[in-house]
Amino acid sequence: MPSNTSLLVRAAFRQPVERTPVWVMRQAGRYLPQYREVRARAGSFLDLCHTPELAAVVSLQPLELMEVDAVIMFSDILTPLMGMGVSLDFDPGPVIHQPIREESDIRRLVLPDPSESCAYVGRLLNLLRQELRDRVPVIGFAGAPFTLASYLVAEEKGKNMAYLTRLLFDEPTLAHRLLDLLTRMTIDYLNYQIENGAQVIQLFDTWAGTLRADEFDVYALPYVQRIFSALNQKGEVPTIYYINGSHHLLDRLMSTGADVISLDWRADIGSVRARLGDKVALQGNLNPNVLFCDPTVIRTKTAEILQKFGSGSGHIFNLGHGIDKDVNPEHLLHMVRSVKELSQRQPT
Ligand code: CP3
Repeated sequence: MPSNTSLLVRAAFRQPVERTPVWVMRQAGRYLPQYREVRARAGSFLDLCHTPELAAVVSLQPLELMEVDAVIMFSDILTPLMGMGVSLDFDPGPVIHQPIREESDIRRLVLPDPSESCAYVGRLLNLLRQELRDRVPVIGFAGAPFTLASYLVAEEKGKNMAYLTRLLFDEPTLAHRLLDLLTRMTIDYLNYQIENGAQVIQLFDTWAGTLRADEFDVYALPYVQRIFSALNQKGEVPTIYYINGSHHLLDRLMSTGADVISLDWRADIGSVRARLGDKVALQGNLNPNVLFCDPTVIRTKTAEILQKFGSGSGHIFNLGHGIDKDVNPEHLLHMVRSVKELSQRQPT
C-alpha cells in the first residue's frame, strides 16, 4: 500500500493513522443552503443526479464547507434501478410507479450494462477524481438487494417492509429471484464505479435490521456476501456495510466480507470493538439527533464515541444514520472539527 494512501482508506484497513477520519452519511444534502440552491437550478432531485457537472458541485460542497475527510458521490441508491426498466420519482422519498407484485413484473426487469444505463455516474466519478487529485478519497455506493427490494415492492409510501415481508414469506421463490437479479445488477454497477475512480465502496442495507437473525441469513447475508466477493480490486478499495439496527446481527456481520461495519447509534462502539475489532474496522456512530444539541454537548458526545472506541486504528467517525435536513450546518462543522482535534495521536 503506498504511504500516501488516504487517512480514511488506512483506517478502513486498520493501518496506522495520525487521527480518526470523519465523514457523514447524506453529507451532500438539504441541510446545506448551497445544496438547495444547486438543486433548484437543476430542476428536480433526479435532474441533479443525472447532470454530472452539477452532481459534482454538490458532492464537493461538504469538503469545502464541512471539512470532511471524504467525498461521497452524489446520487441515490435507487437511481440504478431505472436502468432495469423501473420507473420512479422522488417526492422527496422514492415513489415507484409500478411496484413489483408478481412474476411478470420481475420478468420485465432487465440486467443493464452500467456503462450505458449509468454513464452519468461514471462521468461524475471521473470529474470528482480530476477535481480532487487525491486530496481525499471518493466514496461510491449502492443499495443492498434486500433494501432495494423493499422499495421496489412498496405500493404505498412508508409501507415498504409490509410489502416486502409479504413477498418474502408468501412467495419465497419469487423473492429470491428478485434478490438474485438485484445482486447481479449491483455487482456490475459497483465494479463500474471502481473502474471509474471510486476509492471506497459503501453498501447501504438500511432495512436489513428489521429481519430476525436467522432470516437475515436467508434473505440478506448470502446476497451481500456475493457482492463483496465479486468486487474488483479487493484489498485496495475498502468496503463498508451499513445496516440501521444491526445489534442482533453483529456476529453475522463478520462474514459479510466487508472491511468496515457501519454501526447505527444504538450500539456501544467500545463493546462492539471488543467483540469484532480485530477482524473489521468500525464506522460510526454518533446519534444524528445530537447535532440538534448545543455545540458543547456535540463535542462531549463526540468525545464519548472516540473514547469508547479507544486507541489505535480502525475507526471512521460518522453518524449512526444520515444527517437530518434541519440540522444547522455550523453544528456539523463543529462535530467534524471536534473529531479532528480530539483524535490527534501518534501513528500507531
Ligand atoms: O450525501 C450523500 O450521502 C450522498 C447521496 C445519497 C442520497 N441518498 C441523496 C438523497 C445517498 C448515499 C443516499 C442513500 C439512500 N437513499 C439510502 C440509504 C441510506 C439511508 O438514509 O438509509 C436510502 C434508504 C435512500 C432512499 C431515499 N432517497 C430516501 C428514503 C429519500 C428521502 C430522504 C428524506 O430525507 O426525505 C431519498 C431522497 C434523497 N436522496 C435526498 C437526497 C439528498 C433528498 C431529496 C431532495 O434533495 O429533494
